[in-house]
Amino acid sequence: MGGYSYCRIVGLIMISCLLGGSEGKVRVGFYNTSCPNAEAIVRNVVHQSSISDQNNLPSLLRLHFHDCFVHGCDASILIDRASEADEKRAFGHQGVRGFDVVQTAKAQLEAACPGVVSCSDILAMAARDAVFLSKGPWYDVETGRRDGLVSNVTLAAHMPDVADSIHKLKAKFLAKGLTAQDLVILSGAHTIGTTACFFVNSRLYEFPANRGSDPSINPGFLPELKSVCPKNGDVNVRLAMDRGSEQVFDKQILGNIRSGMAVLQSDAALYQDEATKRAVDSYLGLPGPSFEADFAASMIKLGRIGVWTGSKGQIRRVCSSFN
Ligand code: HEM
Ligand SMILES: *[C@@H]1O[C@H](CO)[C@@H](O)[C@H](O)[C@H]1NC(C)=O
Ligand SMILES: *[C@@H]1O[C@H](CO)[C@@H](O)[C@H](O)[C@H]1NC(C)=O
Repeated sequence: MGGYSYCRIVGLIMISCLLGGSEGKVRVGFYNTSCPNAEAIVRNVVHQSSISDQNNLPSLLRLHFHDCFVHGCDASILIDRASEADEKRAFGHQGVRGFDVVQTAKAQLEAACPGVVSCSDILAMAARDAVFLSKGPWYDVETGRRDGLVSNVTLAAHMPDVADSIHKLKAKFLAKGLTAQDLVILSGAHTIGTTACFFVNSRLYEFPANRGSDPSINPGFLPELKSVCPKNGDVNVRLAMDRGSEQVFDKQILGNIRSGMAVLQSDAALYQDEATKRAVDSYLGLPGPSFEADFAASMIKLGRIGVWTGSKGQIRRVCSSFN
């Protein structure tokens, strides 16, 4: 709301304040006239990146989530001053990747429309494209975000963690305006991509209740997990989070959660709470709500968290540094 006091003080600025009447809101097609090819440019870069490395699609989807959960969708996660104080180095952001794809998209956008398209919008567009290119739903992505002026590792201290209880996961989502239903649907993003054994091992060998394995793991699945992630093995080995369907965006992840084949403890936890269990089951029933349509709706909600619009913040020239 800082923009308002500015309006009152500087009368000449009134016009631009009136034009910026939709301040605080993102909208579909923000770049229609200022950079008509913006979405096509991002889509093309994301597509090319997936040809050279299929992992880029899930990585870009995750990057947008991690951006939005800390200080809003403001590209704060992209800032890289090679300092331990950078948000991107937070423990809660371990494993985030895809930065090079964002950088490539930004370079092409700067060549086409210098100083127009924000890095936070690139993240939102790339996440949408990643879902679609993984055979998931298409949705109209809202744009008009501005890039933030903060990158602070402390602010990422409350990222959702794999070991969080379902109660804690729900609370962390609620704090961002997202419901238990959104938590279930957005966790469905784990339908694509991989995790490092780093995030799975404690579930296999040091589960708090018994210093052994998480009893919610399907006994038929446990030996498979243990063979991929052996005790004291390489924690960087990666495995699919949606066993058997990790390259295709579909609701199989929810079926896997129901049958005790979730890989991440936070996904398994969704089946240990009445409300979230009911949500998981609803998508598996026939006729049920559409997982694809609801995923798109929750992504749009995610993309609205703490956005900066109008004259706040800036349009970064390079996504990894403030102007
Ligand atoms: C509910 C809380 C969540 C937790 C605790 C969580 C945790 C994790 C962990 C531990 C990984 C593996 C990281 C790695 O080893 O590189 C991961 C990967 C991933 N997460 Fe989540 N996640 C959560 C929610 C979400 C949400 C809301 C989205 C997107 C809407 C998302 C999208 C992804 C994707 C696509 C990957 C794969 C990344 C890749 O392959 O590079 N996650 N998540
Ligand atoms: C941009 O164009 C699309 C498609 O014609 C339209 O749906 C959208 O409302 C437009 N957005 C703006 C802000 O002009
Ligand atoms: C980072 O955020 C924390 C928590 O809000 C605050 O105490 C600290 O002063 C911030 N650090 C910088 C360098 O702004």
